[in-house]
Amino acid sequence: MPGQLDLSPASVKARVDARIRETLAETALAVAPAGGAGTEMIDVLAASAHGGKRLRALLTIAAHAAHGGTRDEAAVSVAAALEWFQTAALIHDDVLDGSDTRRGQPAAHRRFEAILAVTAEPAIAAALGRSAGVLAGDVALMTSHRVLDAALVELPDPRPVASLFAAMSELVTAGQYLDMRLAGTPLQGLGDQREQIVATMRCKTASYSAEAPLALGAAVAGADATRVDAMKAIGVPLGIAFQLRDDILGLVGAPAVTGKPAGDDVREGKRTLLLWHAWTEGTETQRLTISRALGDREAEQSTIDDAVAAIVDAGGVAAAEREIDALASPALHDLDALTLEAEGAAALRDLAVGLTTRAS
Ligand code: IPE
Ligand code: IPE
Ligand code: MG
Ligand code: MG
Repeated sequence: MPGQLDLSPASVKARVDARIRETLAETALAVAPAGGAGTEMIDVLAASAHGGKRLRALLTIAAHAAHGGTRDEAAVSVAAALEWFQTAALIHDDVLDGSDTRRGQPAAHRRFEAILAVTAEPAIAAALGRSAGVLAGDVALMTSHRVLDAALVELPDPRPVASLFAAMSELVTAGQYLDMRLAGTPLQGLGDQREQIVATMRCKTASYSAEAPLALGAAVAGADATRVDAMKAIGVPLGIAFQLRDDILGLVGAPAVTGKPAGDDVREGKRTLLLWHAWTEGTETQRLTISRALGDREAEQSTIDDAVAAIVDAGGVAAAEREIDALASPALHDLDALTLEAEGAAALRDLAVGLTTRAS
């Protein structure tokens, strides 16, 4: 008997959002003895969890249905666990990247900064805000495990799901370190970093944005290891293409649409594949313009704007578009070749296309 979940994105999002709110209410009870501090943390977490596209949840639910899954409640809990993981990753990411906005709102560490500035000096409030962001990200991660546990107890064999989730979380964290580590290397070596840049996208993003969501949905449905591996094999290129789209949007997207700042990757000196293309294929003048801004957190906006224009003029965005197509087209072809339940397969295909063509 097929699962009963309506697979329309609006309906899945409503189910997952309800589970996200339920879990946060449990976390609120757990932190109640911390009094006002607990309430502040829950308020910031509620704001941070709000407003995502819920792509990972949608992928999980569609993969579950596509594999004939009937464990709808467990699938919704795993989907909510992934979205709590995403909220944790984003809170931490904005501290790591020094980004001020997320999902169209102040980043969590900036919210804490505003709260703490009532009693602390501005510089102290900013530092404490970042520290509080680390803690709030940790609580979001723990909340993700709270809702994951609710799914695991419903499964006849929870081990594949538990182990996929654990490996995903560890890889994302190592991938974030790889991202930071590359940003700290001399620009002269950029030409040789292509492989590491692709590895960064695979670890920090593809792992938890497409690979694990697809594999987890299949595993919750009880699919065997071969079918779970087939989902992973499709998820990795789609997830890398998803990050490439994110890098394009982060460079030339409209903050009002993406909900996050533009140009932060340049300020932070991030080694994106767009930058790699611009650097290796651009002129000496373009390289000079880029190097003036890259990694300079205090740079004037006009210096950042000039570097962004140089990356575009050097063909960075056009090359990234070609890379997206080269990754997504074979992955979609492989997806079409799998034997899946029709309704879930159609939902999966729509999502797979949307991952790399999205505008926000
Ligand atoms: C942003 O992910 C972080 C990346 C891995 C690129 P999303 O674009 O899915 O963010 P939300 O959840 O919709 O805010
Ligand atoms: C995305 O990092 C990966 C994670 C959040 C784990 P980015 O730094 O590339 O993503 P955005 O652009 O801030 O969302
Ligand atoms: Mg970031
Ligand atoms: Mg980052």
